[in-house]
Order: sequence, then C-alpha cells, then structure tokens
Amino acid sequence: MGKNQTPLFSTVLIILSLSLQASADSQICRNAVCGQDEPLIRFPFRIRTLQPNPCGYPGFDLSCDPTNQTTVIELPNTGNFTIRGIDYAEQEVWLNDPDGCLPKKILSLDFSRTPFSGVYDQNFTFFNCSSDYIKYSLNPIACLCGDNFTVFATSSPRVYNSLSLSPSCRYVKSVAVPVQWPFFEQVLSSDLGDDLRLKWDTPRCGRCEFRGGRCGLKANSTDEIECTDIPRQGIPRAARYAITVGMGIPALLCLISLVCFVCSKVKSSYARRWGSFPANLPTISQQASMPEPLPNPRLVMGLNGAVIESYPKIVLGESRRLPKPNDSTCPICLLDYQAKETLRTIPECNHCFHAACIDEWLHLNASCPVCRNRPMPAP
Ligand SMILES: *[C@@H]1O[C@H](CO)[C@@H](O)[C@H](O)[C@H]1NC(C)=O
Ligand SMILES: *[C@@H]1O[C@H](CO)[C@@H](O)[C@H](O)[C@H]1NC(C)=O
Ligand SMILES: *[C@@H]1O[C@H](CO)[C@@H](O)[C@H](O)[C@H]1NC(C)=O
Ligand SMILES: *[C@@H]1O[C@H](CO)[C@@H](O)[C@H](O)[C@H]1NC(C)=O
Ligand SMILES: *[C@@H]1O[C@H](CO)[C@@H](O)[C@H](O)[C@H]1NC(C)=O
Ligand SMILES: *[C@@H]1O[C@H](CO)[C@@H](O)[C@H](O)[C@H]1NC(C)=O
Repeated sequence: MGKNQTPLFSTVLIILSLSLQASADSQICRNAVCGQDEPLIRFPFRIRTLQPNPCGYPGFDLSCDPTNQTTVIELPNTGNFTIRGIDYAEQEVWLNDPDGCLPKKILSLDFSRTPFSGVYDQNFTFFNCSSDYIKYSLNPIACLCGDNFTVFATSSPRVYNSLSLSPSCRYVKSVAVPVQWPFFEQVLSSDLGDDLRLKWDTPRCGRCEFRGGRCGLKANSTDEIECTDIPRQGIPRAARYAITVGMGIPALLCLISLVCFVCSKVKSSYARRWGSFPANLPTISQQASMPEPLPNPRLVMGLNGAVIESYPKIVLGESRRLPKPNDSTCPICLLDYQAKETLRTIPECNHCFHAACIDEWLHLNASCPVCRNRPMPAP
C-alpha cells in the first residue's frame, strides 16, 4: 500500500471507514423491521420484542404481526393499525386498518391519548341509508354496507344537505378524517380506504434526522432527547447510502447514467405529448435586450436537497387515488404507480411523481417537468 494507492482505492477506504464508524456509534439501539418491505423502525418508534425500552419514546411502541408480516401500532381508544410508512424527517406516519375496513376504525377515531394528530383533517359525515337509496356519483362504503342498508361518507355540504333531508337516510356521525391530501374541491363521497396521514410534534427529531444524525433518549432520561452521529463530512444521508451501498464509484456511475436515462425519458415523453421538447429558458429572457450573453441552458441550476425535502411526500394507498390533475402514471419514468410507493408533489402545481424520479430531476432543474412551473425556493 502507500505509494501506489490509486484515488479509487483511497475513496473506497474513506467510505468504508465512514460506514464502519456509523455502525459502531449505533450499536446500542439497532434499527429493526417486521418483515420484507416493511418500514425501518428506529427512534422514536420501537418494536417491543426486538428493541429494548430506552430505544423508543412513550406512545411509539409497535409490535409485529407474524402471520401478515406487518408492523402494528395499538392506539388507546381506537385499536390496532398497520404502519404503512414513516417519514422520520417530516415526523409523519401513514396508517391503515389490518382488518381491511378503515372506515369502521374512522367511525371511532380518537387520537386524544396518542402523540399523533392529522396533517390535513377533513370533515366527513356518515349516513346510513336504506339499500334502495341509490344515487349517481355516490360511492357506498362496501365494508360497512349490509343487505338492507348502504353507508356513505361525504364532505360536500351539498350532498350532506340532500342526504340529511332524505327519508331513506339516517345521519350517523361527523368525523375529522386525517386524509393524505388537502382536497380543495369537496369530496362528494369517498370509500375512505386510503391510508391516514398523521404527524407527531414530540419528540422533535426531524431536524436531527434531516441532517443524517441519530436521535435518541439522553442517558437515564425518559423524555429528553439528543442528536448524535451527525456526519462530520457533511455528506447527506441519502448520498452516504448511495455511496456505501454501491461501493462508491460504480454507484456514482449508475447515478449519472440514471440521470441521463431520466432526462431522455422525459424528453421522449415530451416529444410524444407535444411534438417537441420545450427550451429550458422562458422565451421572455431571450427577448430581453441584455448586454451580456444568454446563460448557457446546460448550466441551469437545480434545487438543493433541503428545498426538495420540503415538498410534501405521500405513501400511496391501496386505492392509488391521487388528487387532480394527476393520472396513474409517473410522467418521468412512465411507469404506473403502485400501492405503497412514495410520491412527491410540487406544491405550486400539485403535480405528482415518484419521489426518486422527481428528486433527481429537481437536483438538475428548478421547475416542474410537466408544466414548467418554477417552485419558489422555501425560505
Ligand atoms: C392478515 O390479513 C388478512 C387480509 O389482509 C386479514 O383478513 C387477516 O385477519 C390478517 N391476519 C391477522 C392475524 O391480522
Ligand atoms: C392488537 O393486537 C395485539 C396483538 O398484536 C392484540 O394482543 C391486541 O388485543 C389487539 N388490540 C385490539 C384492540 O384489537
Ligand atoms: C362537519 O360537517 C357537518 C355538516 O356540514 C357539521 O354539522 C359539523 O359541525 C362539522 N364538524 C366539524 C368538526 O367541523
Ligand atoms: C345502519 O343501519 C343498520 C340497521 O338499519 C344497522 O344494523 C347498521 O349497524 C348501521 N350501520 C352504521 C354504520 O351505522
Ligand atoms: C331486510 O328487509 C327485508 C324486507 O324489507 C326484511 O324482510 C328483512 O327482515 C330485513 N333484514 C334485516 C336484517 O333487517
Ligand atoms: C445514569 O445512571 C447510572 C446508574 O443508574 C449512573 O451510574 C450514571 O452516572 C447515570 N448517568 C447520568 C448521565 O446521570
């Protein structure tokens, strides 16, 4: 070794030592999972049978359902929910019903004795109607219906009025439902099968997670937290993962080719839709009579990781429904969305994409690939 060390070899050494150091620091509380494709569990959550007591925060205890290989949280008053996804940096969690009838759970929803609350609460009113009451555009909640009755849930005042005046329908209950999206248009009726989206305020580990650190309880404390293991090199967690998993250079090569691939896909998708790929620069700047030469379109800057992370993320529910103007295909990779996939939306125009696809794009381009809206940089 020594003199004939290639740059490649020393890069690998640095990366190895980084990952070794990271795993040495996290010996005490290891991450855990309940099964394949299940969310990674770490502080403030804890799987009771796999992680010791000080590895979690009160109210965040989980268990594994061994038959279905799902991650389960038991909430006081409301019962068991499966954990569908966790965003540690945003301090958000997505829940659904293990028995496949979420609306039944929604009817008795009560988060008052839990650390959780809705990100977007929307008021839905349930009606119990006789089964001959059929109305165009209302979707009955199949799992609550019986031979002689049909149950609807609506958040539209118009439908509310019409149902409450109907002699065939009985008002059941109004509930604030923690929906995944803030619906700007009122929902006529919904089967309420999509994951519930909740956030927690304490413990505040989001900032620590975002910086790639490890959040945990202070020694001998039951509620004070500390942030350790923040990467000294300033390499963000996502980049460190990519580098360590793929052993450095191959990963970087893959990343570069992936970006090229994504670009060409987007180009061809544009070509298919509109015949040509719009120029990166708005025409106005070309008309402006500036004395200096036009900036090179290849140098258009993307957004930084913090801004991209600030855009809302969702985990797609089983029904794979998205708010308008989105359809079921990611405009970047042209693949259909699957349940449980993580999507990101651009707030200014509400266009959705696979989080992985749009993150790559936004690193290079500060505009929505569909409508070319330029998202405002977060303050
Ligand atoms: C496993 O899932 C199925 C449907 O997804 C459900 O009917 C069954 O009750 C679940 N089993 C347990 C033990 O939760
Ligand atoms: C929740 O699930 C656990 C097993 O994972 C079970 O012991 C408990 O009784 C369930 N609670 C409710 C309210 O169904
Ligand atoms: C929900 O909507 C119903 C009907 O519009 C209304 O009576 C009820 O007060 C609302 N509840 C809340 C919490 O806003
Ligand atoms: C609807 O009404 C029927 C009886 O007409 C009852 O058995 C059922 O539990 C009710 N469902 C709900 C969700 O209130
Ligand atoms: C449903 O309605 C039919 C006739 O309207 C009646 O004969 C039957 O007993 C009802 N079933 C229940 C469970 O109420
Ligand atoms: C934690 O408690 C142990 C014994 O219970 C004690 O030896 C140690 O000094 C305590 N550490 C702190 C930081 O208070």
